[in-house]
Amino acid sequence: MTTVPSAFNQVEQAPPVAVFKLKDDYTADSAEEKINLGVGAYRDANGQPWVLPVVRSIEAQMINDPALNHEYLPISGLPAFCQAATKLCLGSDSKAITENRAGGVQALSGTGALRLAAEFLKRFYNTHVESTVVSYPDPTWANHDAIFRYAGFTDRRKYRYWDAKNRCLDLAGLKEDLLQLPEVSIVILHACAHNPTGVDPTQEQWKEIADVCKQKNHFPVFDSAYQGFATGDPDVDAWSIRHFEKCGFEFFVCQSFSKNFGLYNERVGNLAMVMKDPDSLTRSRSQLELIIRGMYSNPPNHGARVVATALCNPSSLGEWHDNIRTMSARIKQMRKSLHEKLKILGTPGNWDHIVNQIGMFSYTGLNQAQCEFMVKQKHIYLMKSGRISMCGLTEGNIDYFAQSLHEAVTKINENKL
Ligand SMILES: Cc1ncc(COP(=O)(O)O)c(C=O)c1O
Repeated sequence: MTTVPSAFNQVEQAPPVAVFKLKDDYTADSAEEKINLGVGAYRDANGQPWVLPVVRSIEAQMINDPALNHEYLPISGLPAFCQAATKLCLGSDSKAITENRAGGVQALSGTGALRLAAEFLKRFYNTHVESTVVSYPDPTWANHDAIFRYAGFTDRRKYRYWDAKNRCLDLAGLKEDLLQLPEVSIVILHACAHNPTGVDPTQEQWKEIADVCKQKNHFPVFDSAYQGFATGDPDVDAWSIRHFEKCGFEFFVCQSFSKNFGLYNERVGNLAMVMKDPDSLTRSRSQLELIIRGMYSNPPNHGARVVATALCNPSSLGEWHDNIRTMSARIKQMRKSLHEKLKILGTPGNWDHIVNQIGMFSYTGLNQAQCEFMVKQKHIYLMKSGRISMCGLTEGNIDYFAQSLHEAVTKINENKL
């Protein structure tokens, strides 16, 4: 009998996804002093995952609510969630909401919202052009490229964002690159707490970015994965989005509730859309429903119901605000503490960016060789770009981290490896 080889025997082994690989390496490491600074998830003062108290109490009510069941949600998700999420990003005084030209569809977290946006835009945006350009910051969250690539966008370009020398925003480069894109390009913008740099434009800089986008008729897609998590105030963190609405843009916001509600594995997201008129929104929504139907039919209920309950109920809303303040305050405290420790150690260089950066991540400025030293010699797991998650630092490990960073900077330079 001849053995027929597998139909898949030519499939190439794909490379591991860096951030998940880092976590596996960390788990496999038996060193007691190990620290995981790769993970993009909040950790409490003891380094443990944190279920927000507001989420715990809503879940406790849900368990005992006889009105709840496991029926399918509508294709576009839980209406109360989509409305509340859209209002959260656009604000309670949004003109677009009042004029019924803004609305949302539930998505499988932020990644799913981006993917829905990409699928929809590929089919319905600027279709008379052979290949619409999509542009994202350099650097950006690693998945942006993959999401738009898998949706069929072949012309994907980076715009300058990070000024490595001065460790700040390269506004001039950013504007120049956006101006050089073809008219009506799709431009991905991080609404706040830019991942990986932790550097956001100021309000004045956002105005300049909006002006350039207007001039070139670009279509903004906001990635909003950290609303509330950055400053502790969801309204402050949505300033950029709300400014673009005031400027009269049509745009999308891809919202994640992973970080600000700690609902990572529940996959809670919303694709909020602002359009010029209610009819365009209604028709677009109908097409999105077909896309969703063909991909996963309808979204899960649990996390969306938790978020909707929290956002629609004044006492839960207050508790959520307290919870996000707790998370962002702990991160700010770790930034301050690390900054002070490096000063005391006399670590060469300027470390002010540690306190000036915002949100979950810090772009330390460590080079690849220094990062390798941290992982291999110190059991401190960080991305090779030098990005660290501030959430991985605690009072218990920050001294060891600061000392190790000091050693990396003083002992290792690129030429030695
Ligand atoms: C910038 C950015 N966008 C989107 C996401 C999507 O996360 P999720 O799919 O868990 O909501 C992340 C997660 O790390 C992120 O950092």
